[in-house]
Amino acid sequence: MVVINRKGGVGKSTIAVNLAAVQGQNFTPTGPIDPDADAPVVACGIDPQGSMEDWADRVPEELLPFDYMSTKGKPGMLAELKADPSVARIVVDSPGFMDTDPDAELATDPLGHGAAADALRDMLEVADLAVVPITPEFMSWSPSEYTIERVLKPRGIPYIAVVNLWDPRDGETDRARVEAWIDERGYPRAREPIRKYKIHAHAAEGGLVVTQYKESGTALRAREDFYKLALAIEQAL
Ligand SMILES: Nc1ncnc2c1ncn2[C@@H]1O[C@H](COP(=O)(O)OP(=O)(O)OP(=O)(O)O)[C@@H](O)[C@H]1O
Ligand SMILES: [Mg+2]
Repeated sequence: MVVINRKGGVGKSTIAVNLAAVQGQNFTPTGPIDPDADAPVVACGIDPQGSMEDWADRVPEELLPFDYMSTKGKPGMLAELKADPSVARIVVDSPGFMDTDPDAELATDPLGHGAAADALRDMLEVADLAVVPITPEFMSWSPSEYTIERVLKPRGIPYIAVVNLWDPRDGETDRARVEAWIDERGYPRAREPIRKYKIHAHAAEGGLVVTQYKESGTALRAREDFYKLALAIEQAL
């Protein structure tokens, strides 16, 4: 599955890394552990900025319930990984892509040219499901629509929208507005949003993933959102 949105800062990397963590926990083999086998869940970054790499670098490897790989500049590696029978789930983080060709005809691929565009195409070719984070902020809506209408739909890639960065303190109206916008367009959507919690932003800095959060208070609520998203995604697959 790929986490994608043309808009930057909507939470693609946060979602990719934490989704991989929750799935890594779910797919942990129960038998004797073979240290040489690939982990059943692999997180990949094609992002030239490498935000996922930064994150993975800060987490002690034995604490990460998934493997991490950078597929940046390695065409075909995702397809190879997908063919590996010991790998059950692959989560790919992708960069925002504002440098699309603005004059591209509606029927043509708007991703443009260059290494980043090639990496996106390589990723989309093997994608079984796209996760599209959309925030309550109006500015993220049009790029989200573009991502779905121009990039995902023409390729026939199934997708699921998820509201991210909803701050419950801003009230239910904010949540209802973005959900109504998604629903009006008939986009499949995870029922529950990922709420905005400071702990997520701090976790990135401290190299933590949700499966390491405390199981009480705010940390529990924050991690719960990702468990719910993982379930919604399993249903969509
Ligand atoms: N649910 C959340 N609660 C709190 N902070 C969040 C949440 N989701 C994302 N953030 C924060 O918002 C910022 C942007 O998130 P992130 O880097 O995951 O977005 P992105 O879509 O990957 O951005 P880019 O397009 O630049 O790669 C980060 O500082 C991150 O910690
Ligand atoms: Mg990112």
